Amino acid sequence: MNRPLRVLFLSVEVAPFAKTGGLGDVAGALPKALHQLGVDVRVCMPLYRSVARQHVSSDPVVPKFEVPLGAGSVAAAAYQGHLSYGLHEHESRPPGAAPTSHPTNNSEPSSVPIYFVDAPHYFDRDSIYGHHDDGERFLVYGRAALELCRSLDWAPDVVHCNDWHTGIVPNWLKTIYRDDPFFAGTASVYTIHNLAYQGLFDYHFLELAGLQQDGFPYPQIPELAHTVDLMGRGILYADAVNTVSERYAEEILTPEYGERLDPLLRDRRDRLFGILNGIDDEELDPAADPHLPTRFDAATLETRLQNKLALQREAGLPESPGIPVIGMIGRLSGQKGLDILLPVLDALLRRPLQLVLLGTGDEHYHYHLRQAQERHPHSAAVFLTFDTPLAQRIYGGSDIFLMPSRYEPCGLGQLIAMRYGNVPVVRTTGGLADTVQDCDPRAGRGNGFTFGPYDHLDLFAAVVRAEETFKHPDYWRTLQLRGMASDFSWSRSAQKYLDLYAKALEFQRQAT
Ligand code: GLC
Repeated sequence: MNRPLRVLFLSVEVAPFAKTGGLGDVAGALPKALHQLGVDVRVCMPLYRSVARQHVSSDPVVPKFEVPLGAGSVAAAAYQGHLSYGLHEHESRPPGAAPTSHPTNNSEPSSVPIYFVDAPHYFDRDSIYGHHDDGERFLVYGRAALELCRSLDWAPDVVHCNDWHTGIVPNWLKTIYRDDPFFAGTASVYTIHNLAYQGLFDYHFLELAGLQQDGFPYPQIPELAHTVDLMGRGILYADAVNTVSERYAEEILTPEYGERLDPLLRDRRDRLFGILNGIDDEELDPAADPHLPTRFDAATLETRLQNKLALQREAGLPESPGIPVIGMIGRLSGQKGLDILLPVLDALLRRPLQLVLLGTGDEHYHYHLRQAQERHPHSAAVFLTFDTPLAQRIYGGSDIFLMPSRYEPCGLGQLIAMRYGNVPVVRTTGGLADTVQDCDPRAGRGNGFTFGPYDHLDLFAAVVRAEETFKHPDYWRTLQLRGMASDFSWSRSAQKYLDLYAKALEFQRQAT
């Protein structure tokens, strides 16, 4: 091929435009790293009401195109924006400005085009998720993304789909678009960020998708005979499938982690891969983070203490350099290990440590965390909200970062924490197992503290071990520096996605 590889990147969350979790972070960062490797990557997402208009071109790139839906169609328009990188802090490219083509020099500012699908009836609403017709909304978005390529006369080599919202797209490419010359050379890649959210609908959904004659040809999972499982369809039809760490790619082959799709995943094993996420090291840099009271790097690590004292003040906790502060950030759901934290929370908070927790989620956890804060006002501060600047201050100010997840496809919190000189305590599962090694002072190894069984006593013991180790400042500093020196940038992973795209194209060629 004598032109750059064309990749259409589909995600219903893309930071900084719209994000509720790690999916948005990945979709906002990986395309930039691919672009730096010379890929002609273009992102497409819905134009939600919450997307700030300064990011969106005032004129549409495609003023009107038809998106087939059921027996009829929906009219949509597409606007353009850019995912910029290599700019100086807080600069942003005006939406109309043309992106530079593939930079030869990495420090040159550049950007990835992003198309916003405008279908106001579906996306001009007050939240990204939680509507009765979410399935239909994302169906319209996925189909619009493919039809938009046709309007732009830009046939992608690879359509890279992410999570259940886009799981129908590989299904379409292998059925209704199979004989369409425009997509004749197009392969699909499907990335699983979280297998627990599968997008389950009744069979009526297939009529909307234009796939009524196409059941779920996989009798080995009888429960799926009468259900449309979009995650399952992505896995079954994509030319290549991956998840966001090597360990999770192994784990989901078992009934324990397979969310009842494990038989299918085992069958597709030859095309299932694990590629660890990176973090956006330009955005997430303690030496340049505008949200930190005191910026620091490895050479000025001692100034990090100022951030800790400021965090203690902000959290209404006693300012004390000697007491370790445990940070915890994330969705408050069963996945994140709250069920093994709550039974030992009182015992932990009676010890000489402090907890600063930030997140929103299940009401049941909100209630118990609020109660714990009331019982331990001098050692617990709980922020039940979503607040990026505060998150950065917790990453850059707490000493220990806790992630006791029941399962964790990759986990970004532990990576950001390490970059910010915070020492993680994690359960060895998924991406946590692939990135955090238990410290062993004698062997001079490790960058955190780990525990294996999903059990409150194991969690308790690991935290106490970290708390005790914190009393040895020289050794603690070694752990901090080891984490800060790790390379969790996207460039390595982006190279692996290039290999995956090549495999997908190869599988696609073999199938036709
Ligand atoms: C999901 C997973 C998380 C992963 C993220 C990005 O949120 O739960 O582990 O890091 O997706 O891939």
